[in-house]
Amino acid sequence: MAIKHHRLQGVFKQGNSIYTLSLNPGKQVYGEKLIKQGNKEFREWNPKKSKLGAGILKGISQIGIMPGKTVLYLGCSYGTTCSHVSDMVTNTGFVFGVDPAPRVMRDFYFLCQERKNMAPIMADANHPEEYSEVPKVDVVFQDIAQRQQVEIFLKNCRQFLKPKGTGILSVKARSIDVTKKPRHIFDNVRHQLSKEVKVVDYKELAPFEMDHCLFVIKL
Ligand SMILES: C[S@@+](CC[C@H](N)C(=O)[O-])C[C@H]1O[C@@H](n2cnc3c(N)ncnc32)[C@H](O)[C@@H]1O
Repeated sequence: MAIKHHRLQGVFKQGNSIYTLSLNPGKQVYGEKLIKQGNKEFREWNPKKSKLGAGILKGISQIGIMPGKTVLYLGCSYGTTCSHVSDMVTNTGFVFGVDPAPRVMRDFYFLCQERKNMAPIMADANHPEEYSEVPKVDVVFQDIAQRQQVEIFLKNCRQFLKPKGTGILSVKARSIDVTKKPRHIFDNVRHQLSKEVKVVDYKELAPFEMDHCLFVIKL
């Protein structure tokens, strides 16, 4: 069965699996399957290892990540999801990856050496002044599992999003409050976001990730 275009630009599909077109053929980032088709190589996107991948399989829309776009990615870790975002924006776009953990940033730095459309920034997303040299971007994506994640996300959207930009927030209910039901926490997050931005999509990520959801916002 041939790999075909997905409804989201920069994403491809075959059966129930999704892929990105590799910018760095022959290289795996996290042990993902590589599939050659003609002179192209596709990387399978594992929804159990990437909340954005899970969101795409759950039908998320309007994510704004596509060829030519710039993305500020908060909580890039080793670069699992970031590498797929890098494939999606292609070499005409760019991804700034932020994470304060030296261990993960070391690996992410080497990944950026192999991919010319990504740059590492070792910093705390709660202090955007530490990376104020980042220009205005088309998309702010955040996956940081912190109690103050909504405030941190809004702070970064205010500072870095272009006027018609898109924000994508991954929420892990247990990092906000382990004692409350996830649905209750997600409702609170929506309420908090809606005071300042427009929530245009929302998907819970089960069965790929339990008690997680993604919000898509526009300013
Ligand atoms: C769940 S992992 C992210 C996984 C990654 N998004 C992926 O799919 O490949 C969460 C990351 O957030 C980072 N993190 C935690 N607090 C942060 C903060 N204040 N600013 C930026 N990153 C943070 C952690 O170091 C960790 O690498």
